[in-house]
Amino acid sequence: MSPFAHITGWGMAVPQRILTNFEISQIVDTSDEKIQELTGIRERHIASEDQSTASLAVDAALKALEMSGLRPESLDLIIVSTSSPEYIFPATACLVQDQIGASKAGAFDLLAACTGFIYALNMASQAIRSGSIQSALVVGSETLSRLVNWKDRNTCILFGDGAGAFVLQASDVPGGILSSVLRSDGSGGDLLSVPGGGSKHPTTLESVEMGLHYVQMNGREVFRFATRVMAQATKEAAAAAGFQIADLALVIPHQANKRIIDAAARGLEIPIERCMINVERYGNTSTASIPIATVEAVESGRLKAGDKIVFVGFGAGLTWGALAVQWSGPILPKRKVYPRSYLFWLRMRSLLLRVVRRMESILWGRDIPRS
Ligand code: COA
Repeated sequence: MSPFAHITGWGMAVPQRILTNFEISQIVDTSDEKIQELTGIRERHIASEDQSTASLAVDAALKALEMSGLRPESLDLIIVSTSSPEYIFPATACLVQDQIGASKAGAFDLLAACTGFIYALNMASQAIRSGSIQSALVVGSETLSRLVNWKDRNTCILFGDGAGAFVLQASDVPGGILSSVLRSDGSGGDLLSVPGGGSKHPTTLESVEMGLHYVQMNGREVFRFATRVMAQATKEAAAAAGFQIADLALVIPHQANKRIIDAAARGLEIPIERCMINVERYGNTSTASIPIATVEAVESGRLKAGDKIVFVGFGAGLTWGALAVQWSGPILPKRKVYPRSYLFWLRMRSLLLRVVRRMESILWGRDIPRS
């Protein structure tokens, strides 16, 4: 029998700095009342100068590892889902791998915008279910505040920074991630994009003057698309796992706009109380929103072992998707691990690897054969 992929650890990290609607109304022509009416958002967290997508990801990842009792060096795979990576390359996942000391893990970034965490969970769980790996770390991390035009009231009211992480582990106990629905429609790619900085519009003085490095969005069209797909994807994922909608303890949707979540609840014919909502405090943290909402659902007692749930998201691409999950209790023997306590040694290890590489290059770098 193929193993099941269980979520055995979870963690979140958000910057301390909170930006309120009132503060945004000092920058652009808007108001707290209007933002709340249009989106349900009251405030969001914004990364400080010394924080980044990787640093938030590492923070969330360490919490998830502590929770699961899995040592970083036992990890087989790291996927970081992000639309605001540290660099175009190397992958943010590799920075995380180095900083947490996951010495045996493969690492890559996945870009499916706000649906990315769903895509990444599916990839990792399929690798576990096929038997090719035993464990994975999946992180959703964003600092979209760095890509937002703070003079554009259509977008700057929406986004916030943060990260969430899950540890996935193989077990023969039935449960965990049971089904998935992944969809895309690239014909809507222009509705939400960051056009500059890639190979189509490389960064130039002109591209920056045109603001191509900022998030550009057709809000109304994205709204219409989101309300169309959320309920449908939830139903498909639930049916594929053999769940009835009435059996779902909780639906954990992407937190973009309270009105979109309301529409999804109406489409599913479930009371809004069965949807996890925290968009009012974080805004849209893109691919981090589902794991952040999950951590808060567990911490507030709304999500318990054995519960049947669905994660559902949508985003740029266009992409959308859903996963049906039976939430895991403590299914594997837990040891205490303290990855945080050896962060200093991990930095030393990384430094040592760089020094060795430099020395090798000085000693033998000239010996590379040339044909
Ligand atoms: N502050 C104040 N007023 C605003 C405003 C803002 N930030 N944005 C729009 N308005 C005003 C408009 O000028 C308009 O005023 P009018 O009625 O006097 O003409 C009114 O509010 C409605 O504007 P509209 O653009 O139709 O709003 P909307 O209902 O579509 O809401 C969004 C705008 C952006 C909140 C909404 O379209 C949305 O959430 N879309 C999805 C975006 C999203 O989720 N993106 C991420 C995907 S992962």
